Amino acid sequence: MTAEKLAPIAVLTSGGDAPGMNPTVRAIVGVASALGAPILGVRRGYQGLIEGDVAELTPRDVDGWSRRGGSSLGSSRCAAFRTEQGRLAALMQLERWQVGGLIVIGGNGSLTGAKLLGELAASRGVALSVVGIPASIDNDLACTSLSIGVDTALNTIVDACDRILDTASSHARTFIVEVMGRDCGYLAMTAAVATGADGVLFPEARQHEDEMIDSLERIIQHAYDPVGGKHRVLVVKSEGVPIDSSRIKERLDERLRAGNLPVETRVSVLGHVVRGGAPSATDRLIGGRLGHAAVRAVERGMNGVMCGWHVLQLPGQPEMLGQHFDLDPYVSFWPLDVVLRETERILNGTSEVTQWRVRLLREAAPFLSA
Ligand code: F6P
Repeated sequence: MTAEKLAPIAVLTSGGDAPGMNPTVRAIVGVASALGAPILGVRRGYQGLIEGDVAELTPRDVDGWSRRGGSSLGSSRCAAFRTEQGRLAALMQLERWQVGGLIVIGGNGSLTGAKLLGELAASRGVALSVVGIPASIDNDLACTSLSIGVDTALNTIVDACDRILDTASSHARTFIVEVMGRDCGYLAMTAAVATGADGVLFPEARQHEDEMIDSLERIIQHAYDPVGGKHRVLVVKSEGVPIDSSRIKERLDERLRAGNLPVETRVSVLGHVVRGGAPSATDRLIGGRLGHAAVRAVERGMNGVMCGWHVLQLPGQPEMLGQHFDLDPYVSFWPLDVVLRETERILNGTSEVTQWRVRLLREAAPFLSA
């Protein structure tokens, strides 16, 4: 495809929104317009694609999107797109609009949909480049060191924990702060390091409930020790730990009462607060670079690929598709089936990436375990 002949490119955001999605769309619109390709914004993710809820976007339309949180295109978790019938309906819409490339910005489920749609198009002889951009605050996607949204979410958690530490210190209390991360403890682990927390609970540790309570009791005993103690405790807990924060508090309170340790505990669940807010400078920049790379990937006719940000090539990990250094040395391209397979390994704990994260946390932040 030459620059002048680029067919329209459609873009959608899908799944849980992530701060940085808007700057990414803005970059896509800017780069595609400069190449002479019309850009179609699809509203409400795959649901909007199936329904043909599409409108042309110009650079003027997305002016100011650099600093907007959430997704201004709207997003959805679309059950209909999980069926062949739903994907066929979406493909027909794309053909109707004569779209040559679809850029999907989202997480695991969204990229699974992108892979299946790319395969469907190829099997029906439809010339369509489907390109994924990783966006999910959980940082649970493989083949990218960061997904869009992670940096902002982490900064939000750090800010919240700093505030909680102020009140925890004033009242000499112990706080368990729960942060998002459905199946992945990355946000909890990195937030614990960044806030100087006293403890961290994350699913990759695969701790039994009793073990967890034992270790929290030790952390509290140490912190409230009259000689040189600090008289407050912050524990960051990942949502992915399959035990409710309120249950952990209850069990811990029982234990503290039995041990005659008069420490007050509180739970604070940050929830969706972590997903909102204006994107950080890093998320804006990564979004801009991945958005640029995705348009270029469409221009080069790539199908069923994801653009990864600054990937660590660990031993045992698959090889990238070729780095296209002429595009951006920080961006690499990966077949979506490899991304999804490796993501599964991150989620089930067998990935070298997961093992490396856990080992590094234990070795580089020994204060976090008791
Ligand atoms: O996008 C990822 C995520 O924020 C997870 O951390 C969380 O478990 C989930 O989405 C919440 O999804 P929903 O907004 O649909 O409740």
